[in-house]
This record gives sequence, structure tokens and C-alpha cells, in this order.
Amino acid sequence: MWLNSIKLTGYKNYDSGSFSFHERIVGICGRNGRGKTNLLDAINYLCLARSYFTRTEALNIHFSSPGFRIEGTITDDRNERQHIVCIFREGGKKELYLNDIPYEKFSKHIGKFPCVLIAPDDISLINGNSDERRKYLDTTICQIDENYLQQLILYNKILAQRNALLKYESGGLKYDEVLLQSYNQKLVESGNIIHTERKAFTARLFPAILRYYTSIAGSPESVNISYESQLQEDAFDQLLKSSRTKDLHTQRTNVGIHKDEIRFVLEQNPFKAIASQGQKKSLLFACKLAEYEILKEEKGFAPILLLDDVFEKLDESRIHNLIEFICSESGTQVFITDTDSERLQKIVAGKDSGIQIIQLN
Ligand SMILES: Nc1ncnc2c1ncn2[C@@H]1O[C@H](COP(=O)(O)OP(=O)(O)O)[C@@H](O)[C@H]1O
Ligand SMILES: [Mg+2]
Repeated sequence: MWLNSIKLTGYKNYDSGSFSFHERIVGICGRNGRGKTNLLDAINYLCLARSYFTRTEALNIHFSSPGFRIEGTITDDRNERQHIVCIFREGGKKELYLNDIPYEKFSKHIGKFPCVLIAPDDISLINGNSDERRKYLDTTICQIDENYLQQLILYNKILAQRNALLKYESGGLKYDEVLLQSYNQKLVESGNIIHTERKAFTARLFPAILRYYTSIAGSPESVNISYESQLQEDAFDQLLKSSRTKDLHTQRTNVGIHKDEIRFVLEQNPFKAIASQGQKKSLLFACKLAEYEILKEEKGFAPILLLDDVFEKLDESRIHNLIEFICSESGTQVFITDTDSERLQKIVAGKDSGIQIIQLN
């Protein structure tokens, strides 16, 4: 799969901009604030129908523009050219087209053009709350399994409705038992599907993360990763029953797959509490490269890799390991941002890969 060109109108700092790509490795260079990250994000948008960084579309619109448009041509794995257009219109309407045919459901687009973005600021995957790690899991599984995304959308919708009901009821208004039961049943149905999928997926993902961690960090360390879910302790319908009084009291749903966690452990301690910055970055890269690897296996072709400022944030030996990896993945299109085009060219020089430099001024 190959991104041939992209055209941005009114997207973030791009009033308008067009780029075409003709090497496997594309360096996007320029001083800070020139739009390097925004260009990667636009590529992410084209592939996954959303910004990597925000769900608030208003933040993606150029200040002086009423909406935005991202348009691109991708040569897919069957060597066919696919034309994708994403439009966010004034008034908040979002549209997505593949070869001029509008998608009725955007979820149908997800997974057709897989991509993985690595930004070192993503360290919140390690340091942040559990929702960051669920987002990581979900982003990957959604690109593999269309039904998973449907179930996730459904689950979140029911969850919001159930929480609204709990709030309403705690206001002393009439207790709608039938409605609560019906929400419970729907939550259990989609929650169980999501849980089963996460369990199967993490069983594949975690060994890959550990393998990448060892090769990036360059030393075997005692790292452990586990998937934790309340649904492992009891059946979901039982959990909901037991939690009922608490739910009514707190006015929200306290049990379910929206509480799932990926636990990283280093030498028997919480990883984020004791790991060094370097170890955290290694783990972050390992998570992302494992995601890349599994997507590639599943799809039978390589996702686009988007690497944001990775050379600024990694030390020499980790850069070396990463570049060795990228250059060995000969079928993968890679976009790398860097403030320093000479450094980038030097790092890639001597490898078998050509590099195209795009200088943003
Ligand atoms: N909605 C927007 N409208 C206009 N400019 C924006 C918008 N969002 C971000 N920017 C600008 O984009 C620039 C940052 O671009 P970015 O891609 O992060 O730069 P870098 O090259 O450092 O990666 C900033 O100057 C910021 O003000
Ligand atoms: Mg940037």
C-alpha cells in the first residue's frame, strides 16, 4: 500500500497544500511549528477518518476556514488506485468518499488503509490513565475486525444512555426498572463480544510487544504485561447486579469493559512508577511496532508508518535499532518528521532505501 499524494485545504495550519510522494521513505522537515506533525495527522485522517490527536473537529479547521478537506490517492495492495476524500463542512457535517462514492458508515473505511502513528509524546500510553491503553487496543482491533468497531460504538452508546438513566433516577424520579434491565442486557451482549476479542487479541499482542521491547532496549529486562478486566472475575450480568446499589448511588456504571486495563510491570513494580524515561520510550515503541506487525500479518500488506520526531527523542542506539528495523521492512511506506534534514539523510544514507525530503518553509 502506498500513499501517492495528498491535498489539504483548511486543515490545521494548511490553508492549502499539496504533496506527492515518490520514495518509500519520506522525510518531512522544517523548523518547529511548520506543520510537520499536522501533515502526518492529515495522513492519519485519510486512513482512519479521524485526527490522531483530537476528536474535536473544530480544532482541526484552519482558523480562517469554514471547514476542511483532505484528499489523497493511495495505490492499494492490489495495485489499484483509490481516491479518498474527507470533508468537514461548516456546520459540522462530516463526509467521507472512496472513489467518489460516499460512505454511509465511516466504520466501513477503517481497516482498508491501515496506518500506525508513533509520536514520542504518546508516552501517555505508558504514563497516562487506562483509557489511553484501551484507546490503543481499540484503534488496533478496529482496523482488523469491523464487527468489533460496531460493538464498541453500540456499547458506548448504551453506556451513555444507562448513565443518563442512573442520573435521572437518583434525582428521585420514577424508577424505570424495565429500561434499566434492557440496557443491562444490551451492555452484556456487546461487552462480552468486546471482552472476548480483547482477550484473544492481547494474547497475540503482548508477546510481540515483549519481543520488540527486548530488541529496542537491547537488554532482557523482566517486563510483564497483562490484560485485566472485571469480566474475568465474574459474568458481566452478575457484575451489573452486584454493582446496582453503587451504580445508583454514584450515578454511573461502575463495572464493564470500559474499566479494562493493560498492566505493565517491571521487576514486579508498576512500570510507570519505576521505569526510566528510556525504558518508557522503548516500551512505547514496542507497543506501536507490535501493533504494526499484527496489522501487517492480518492484512497481508504493510500499514503506513508515521514517525513523528522520533530522532529528537531517542538516544543513538535506539535510533540505530529503529532505523535498522525500518530499512528492513522493504514493503512499507514510512513518513518521518525531523527538524534537521541533514541528520535524517545521514541516518538513512548507506542503507538500501532511497529517501525523499519534503522541506516545509
Ligand atoms: N486549527 C488550526 N488553524 C491554524 N493553525 C493551526 C491550527 N492548529 C494548529 N495550527 C498551527 O500549526 C502549527 C503547528 O504545526 P505542527 O504540525 O505541530 O508543527 P511541527 O512542524 O512543529 O510539527 C502551529 O503553529 C499551530 O499554531
Ligand atoms: Mg511536530
